[in-house]
Amino acid sequence: MKGLLAKKPLDVMLAEASETGEHTLKRALGPVSLITLGIGAVIGTGIFVMTGPVAATAAGPAIVLSFIVAGIACVFAGLCYAEFAALIPIAGSSYSYAYTTLGEIVAWVIGWALVLEYAFGAATVAVGWSGYVTSLLEDLNIRIPPAVSGAPGTTLVLYRGRWEPLAALESEIRCAGAGLPHATARFDLLALLGILLMTAILVKGIKESANVNTAIVIAKVSVLLIFIGLGIAFLMGHFPLGAAHWHPFIPPNKGHFGEFGWSGVLRGAGIIFFAYIGFDAVSTAAQEASRPQRDMPIGILGTLAICTVLYILVAIVLTGLVSYTRLNVADPIAVGVDVTGVRWGSFLVKIGAIGGLTSTMLVMLLGQSRVFYTMARDGLLWSWASKIHPRLRTPYISTTGIGVCVALLAATLPISTLAELTSIGTLFAFTIVCAGVWVLRRERPDLHRPFRAPWVPFTPIMGMAVSLLMMFALHLLTWEVFLTWLVIGLGVYFLYSRKHSKVQQSIHTGEAETEVSRP
Ligand code: ALA
Repeated sequence: MKGLLAKKPLDVMLAEASETGEHTLKRALGPVSLITLGIGAVIGTGIFVMTGPVAATAAGPAIVLSFIVAGIACVFAGLCYAEFAALIPIAGSSYSYAYTTLGEIVAWVIGWALVLEYAFGAATVAVGWSGYVTSLLEDLNIRIPPAVSGAPGTTLVLYRGRWEPLAALESEIRCAGAGLPHATARFDLLALLGILLMTAILVKGIKESANVNTAIVIAKVSVLLIFIGLGIAFLMGHFPLGAAHWHPFIPPNKGHFGEFGWSGVLRGAGIIFFAYIGFDAVSTAAQEASRPQRDMPIGILGTLAICTVLYILVAIVLTGLVSYTRLNVADPIAVGVDVTGVRWGSFLVKIGAIGGLTSTMLVMLLGQSRVFYTMARDGLLWSWASKIHPRLRTPYISTTGIGVCVALLAATLPISTLAELTSIGTLFAFTIVCAGVWVLRRERPDLHRPFRAPWVPFTPIMGMAVSLLMMFALHLLTWEVFLTWLVIGLGVYFLYSRKHSKVQQSIHTGEAETEVSRP
C-alpha cells in the first residue's frame, strides 16, 4: 500500500519542467496562443449543436441560466487548474498534479481516465464535424455514400434529397420514413479522415499546430460574433418578437424532472457542461509555454471568461430569434441566422462550425498525446510513448498511435456514447484536481504559488461537489463503461507500470516521498 501512494517529489517535477534541449518539447506559446488554444478546444459541438436541443427539450429560453450555472461550476475547477498549472507547469496536467499530491495509484487512475476526456472527446467532436461537413457537401451537391456516413447500424433515410439519420427526424416524419429509401451505415469515413488529418498536423509541430489553431479560432469566434451582431440588430427592430419568444423565460415543468422548470435549467446545465470541456487542455501545453508561471492562469481563466460571455450572448440571441420549441435541430445557429433574413448567414455558420470543430479535435488530440508522453517519461507507460522526434520536437509515436485509435473510435461509435464518456472522464479529473489543490495547500503551505486559487478550501470543495453531482446525473451504462475502463487500467498498472515506475524504483534507493515521509 505504501508504494501505491508514493508521490513524485515536487522538486523532481519542477526540474523536469525546466529541462531544455532537442529531446524536450519546444517552448513556443505565449498568453495569446494559450488562450486561442483554450478557445480552440472549448468552442465546438456544445454551442454549435447542443444549444438547440437543450433549449427545446430541457430549459427553454432559460438555457441562458443553464450556461451560467455550468460556467460557474467550471470556474471553481478552472481556478484549481490555474493554481496547479502555474505551480507545476508540466505537460501531464491533472495526472501530474495527482502524482505529487495524492500518490501514484491516484495519478495512474486519473491519467487513464483522461483518455476518456481527450481521446473520446476528440472522437465525439469528429462525429459532429463529419455531420456538418456532410451537410455542407450536400449543399454543394456532393453526396457521401450513406454506407460510410455514420456509426455502424445507424439507419439513414433519403429525405428531401438528403440522407438523414432516421433518429434525428421528427416522429411524424419517422412514420412516413417507412416508405422512404433506407440505408444502414457501416462506418463514419469523414470522422476517420478528420482525425487522421489532425494527427498529421500535430506530428508536424507545436508551432504549426498553434498557428493552424489560431487561424481557425479567429474564424469561429468571428462567426459567433457576426451571429450575435446580426441577431441583436434584428431583435432591436423586432422587439415584440423577441419578447414573445422569451416569455415565459422558464417554461413550466411538464411533470418530469429535467423537462422545463428549474429542474430543466439544472439538467440543461449538466448537458451543456460539454460546451465548456477543453479549458483544462491549456494546462497540458504548460511545458510548451514560454512563461508558464504567468501565462497558464491567463490561458485557463481567460479561455473560460471569453467562452462564458460568448455562450450567454449566443443563447440570449438565439432564443430571442427562434421559439425554443423549434430548436430541436442539428444546426440551431444556422436556423437562428436564417430568421434575420441574411441569405449567406447559414453558409457562414456551417463554415464556422466546421472550423470550430476542427480546432476542438486538434487540441483534444494534443492533450491526449501530452498526457501519454508524461506518463511514459515517468515509466508508467512504454518508453516509446515519450520519444520526441529530434527535428519536429513532437512526441510523434504517441501522437500517431493515439490518432489511429481515436480515428477508429470516431468511425465506429455513436456520438451520444462518446459524449457521455467524455463528460464522466472530465468530471473525474476535475474532482481529483480540486482535491489535489486542497491537499497540497495543507501539506506544502510553504511553496511559492505564482497563482493562488481564492477561498481555499471553499473553492475546491465546491469544484468537487458540483463535479460529483454532474457525474451522478449520467446514465448507468456510462458508469459501467467507466468502471470497466478503470479496471482495465488497474490491470495495466499492476502488470506493467508498477514494475517500471521511476518513482517505485527510487523508493528502493530512498529518494522518493511516500505518503508517510512528508508532513
Ligand atoms: N467543449 C467542446 C465542444 O463543445 C468539447 O465541442
